[in-house]
Formats: sequence, C-alpha cells, structure tokens
Amino acid sequence: MSGTDRRFFTTPIYYASGEPHIGHAYTTILTDVLARFHRQDGRDVLFLTGTDEHGQKIQDEAEKRGVEPIELCDLMAERFEEAWKTLGISYDRFIRTTEDEHKAVVSAFLKRLWDRDQIYQGTYSGWYCVSDERYWTEKDIGEDRRCQICGREVTYVEEKNYFFKMSEWQDDLIKQIEDNPEWIVPEVRRNEILGFLRQPLGDLSISRPKSRLSWGIDLPFDTDHVAYVWVDALINYLTASGAIDPSKPDGEQGFDDVTGSWWPADMHLVGKDILTTHSVYWPTLLMGVGLPVPRQILAHGWWVVGDTKMSKSLGNVVDPLALRETFGTDAVRWYLMREMPTGGDASYTPERFLTRYDELANVLGNLASRAISMIVKYRNGVVPDGASNGLEPHAHEALSEARASIARLKVHEAFASAMDLARAANVYVEERQPWAQAKDPAQAAELDETLSTLAQVLVVLCALFQPVAPEKMGVLADRLGLDGVPTLDEAIAARMAGRSVTPGNPLFPRVDPTWADSEA
Ligand code: MSP
Repeated sequence: MSGTDRRFFTTPIYYASGEPHIGHAYTTILTDVLARFHRQDGRDVLFLTGTDEHGQKIQDEAEKRGVEPIELCDLMAERFEEAWKTLGISYDRFIRTTEDEHKAVVSAFLKRLWDRDQIYQGTYSGWYCVSDERYWTEKDIGEDRRCQICGREVTYVEEKNYFFKMSEWQDDLIKQIEDNPEWIVPEVRRNEILGFLRQPLGDLSISRPKSRLSWGIDLPFDTDHVAYVWVDALINYLTASGAIDPSKPDGEQGFDDVTGSWWPADMHLVGKDILTTHSVYWPTLLMGVGLPVPRQILAHGWWVVGDTKMSKSLGNVVDPLALRETFGTDAVRWYLMREMPTGGDASYTPERFLTRYDELANVLGNLASRAISMIVKYRNGVVPDGASNGLEPHAHEALSEARASIARLKVHEAFASAMDLARAANVYVEERQPWAQAKDPAQAAELDETLSTLAQVLVVLCALFQPVAPEKMGVLADRLGLDGVPTLDEAIAARMAGRSVTPGNPLFPRVDPTWADSEA
C-alpha cells in the first residue's frame, strides 16, 4: 500500500441484473471494514462501490422482464444502495456505468488506446458465457462445453471485433508481479496468475458488434460497436478517481499526470472468480494507456454451502438481510469478517453463526453492560479517577496487533485480537471482584481503579470494534458519554475520569438458543 495518509479502496461493481446477496455483501463489508479501520486510524479514505450496468447479461434480463435495460438498472442500483445502507456500508461514491461522466471516461480511454496503436480489428470466433461475460477457448470449456466459472453452457460466436494488444504487455505484467510480491494477495492467487502467465497471453477482444448487443458504450472510433462490458466496468475505478477529465482536449485529459487525483487505487477487493480480469486485463489496459497500475489486489474466497459456492442459480443463497432482522446488522458483519479467514473460503452454517454471535453477546456485550452498570451502581454513573490502569499494556498490544493484521490483510485476525482484549477485561473483572471491593469501604481506591480501568478499556474496544460493528459502537460511545466513536489514537489517550455513563439494553441481546436448529 501507499506510504501516504490517503487510501482509495474499491469493491467490484455488481451486475445490475440481480438482487444483492451474501457474496456481494461479503466483498462490500470487507471493503467497508478496511475503509473504516483506516479512517479510525486517521487516514483520508475514498471508498468506491457501484453497479455494472451494460452488457449482454443486463440486456437479456431486461428483455426477460419486458422492461428497458435502463429501467432494470435504475431499479437494481436502488436495491444495492438500499442493501448497503442497511448493512452499514460507508461508501463515499456509488458509481453507475450508465453515468455520463463514466461513459466519457471510457470513450477517452479507448481513444487513447487507439491513438497509441494499441487496438486493431480482427475476427473473433469462439465460445462465450453470457452469464459471466467471458470468452473461453476450446481447451477451457472441455467436452461438455461449460463455463469455467458458473458451469453454464457456453455459446459459439463469430464476429468482427476490435482487439487490444494485451500480449505486448505480458513481460511487463510478469515483472510487475515478480517485483511486487504483495501486489496480488493471497500468495496462492498470485501463484495462480503467474502460472497462467506462463502460457503466451492472447490479445483481448474489447468490443461487441451492435448487431448482437446494443446496450453498451459506443467505441469512439467505430459507432457500430460497443465496448466489451468488462473493459467498460474496469474503467469505473479510474472514472471515480477523478484522474481523467474527458472534457479537456487530448493530451490534457490527465493520462500523463495523475497528481491530485485518487489514482492509482490502493486496493481493489475482488472475489477469486474475477481475479484474472483485475490482475491481467486491467493492469495491461492501464499500461496500454500509460497510467500507473493499482497498488494492490486482494482476492477473497467464496462463501460455500457444503462444497458448492453460494449462488443464485444454485438456489443455496443465504440472505444476509434476513439474518440481520434477527441478529442486527453488526452481528452479520461480525460473522462474515470473523468466520472467513481473509482470502480463504468459508462455509456458512447456522451453528457457526450462533457461536460467533455468542462471542459478541457474552464477551463484548457482557463486558460493556457489567462495567457500565457497576459504574452506575457504585459511583453514581460517574467514572472515578483511578490510579493505575491494569489493562493498559493489553490495550496497546491489541491495538498494535490489529494494525499489523489489517496491514497484512488478515481482517479476521485483527478482530480476534480485539475480542481477546474484551476477554482479558472480563478476566480482570473476575479477578478484581468489584462487587466484593464495593462491600468494603477500605477498598474504595481499589474499586475506583477497577472501574476506571474498565471504562478506559471500553473506549479502546469501542474504537477497535467500530469498523466491524459501527452501529453498536456508536451506541456504546453514547453510553460512555463520548462525543462519537474516537479514533484509535484518541481512544488510547482518552481520559475517562469524570465522564457520566448511561446504562441501556444489552448491545447484543441473547437469542433463542434453538434458533440454529430451526434454521438447519
Ligand atoms: N460486474 C462484475 C464485476 C466488475 S468489477 C469491474 C461482477 N459482478 S457480480 O455481481 O457477479 O459480483 C461479483 C462479486 O461478488 C465478486 O467479487 C464475487 O467473488 C462475489 N461473490 C459472488 N458470489 C460469492 C460467494 N458465494 N461468496 C463470496 N463472494 C462471491 O463480477
């Protein structure tokens, strides 16, 4: 990542052909957690998400529904925005590829490629998967002629296309990956891409004839063709960065100097199924126009049920919004972040969901309610001025571990460290026995110490858990008499003595323990 105090994070832009589901929610929450963590650590963040609105898939779906493609896109863009609001996603910009600004940037980008002699005309003949909008070779699809990603049948197409000279950039791309071991994370995915690049890299078809597909952005040099939807979609990151101003004349549009914009992105977060487009097509396209490549690409795994990826067509999708109704948004976020090792696969089961939820309720929630109610009961709701803070070293350790884990993109570990701090604080309560200290007037100073220590640790927990549980940590900050959730540095330096705390309902209420059985 960059050494600056700014970070530009992106999610994939989701196809506007269907409703948001747990897969989309996972990528988006993961990005949100990183964005929030960096904001909590005092950095300026641009968090981009949006919808991918052109292409065959959208055109077909609109036709199926008997509506215009743009009507379908308007509806779905709204659905995604609503879903992200209910899931607490703090995006700064929601881009739609049907926006005029984006269309103009795509056009400028393609024109620049054309001017740099990076495009030629040819004929494409081969296999195509409409669902994933991807071409496949005979070898890829095997005898049963199915898409390598979704398993659906592919169709044979033969058409005049424009091609980007992607093959010219193969050596530069390999160098980029080899010189920057952390450029593609995790390593297993990096090796996969390096393996893929051992074969000669072909050129990339970047257009579709309008006779087959009209729902797209016109090529600036041939209006009988539209841009291939993946090229259109990838450029969204650049549009949102503000680097390119297509209203300016050629040569002044920003392709030669990105200073002052958010380009290059610090991190593209994607699922492993769309890593090739992001780590091969996209960087070579950028090299083709002479722009810097993104600083890092994180490919995460899949949520699976049994051995299969959750997907709409398989009918095994868990609706995260439904879980939200029973457990609250933060519990869903917590489960998704804590349960899946960043980069790996994880399988959803109601039992695991409940186990993770119990951690929130019994460790973090319980600590907050007992600490606050004891301050109310023994000190009239005002945090006493206690001498030492027995948990301070622990808090520092949790903070530095969380920072290190986030830097290594081990999000699950960052929150494991935070939960360990809450656990340590519960152990501290058991050891100090404040209820016994309260009974003995000779131990008033010790009780002050216990209560103030707990208040101090709660502020740090509030700041640390905010990225994953923003709603509940907002409530906790209120109860602790704070003016909003503090940053990590503010939390560690906070002075709680003299603040009034307010009790309230459990942050994470217990749920019916038979819930998991009824879900199975
Ligand atoms: N529109 C393209 C992306 C263009 S980005 C320039 C696209 N859209 S998508 O709607 O299919 O969303 C894909 C994202 O959702 C990927 O990151 C993918 O990995 C993620 N998921 C879809 N199902 C998933 C799971 N079951 N589990 C985890 N994430 C998965 O591809």
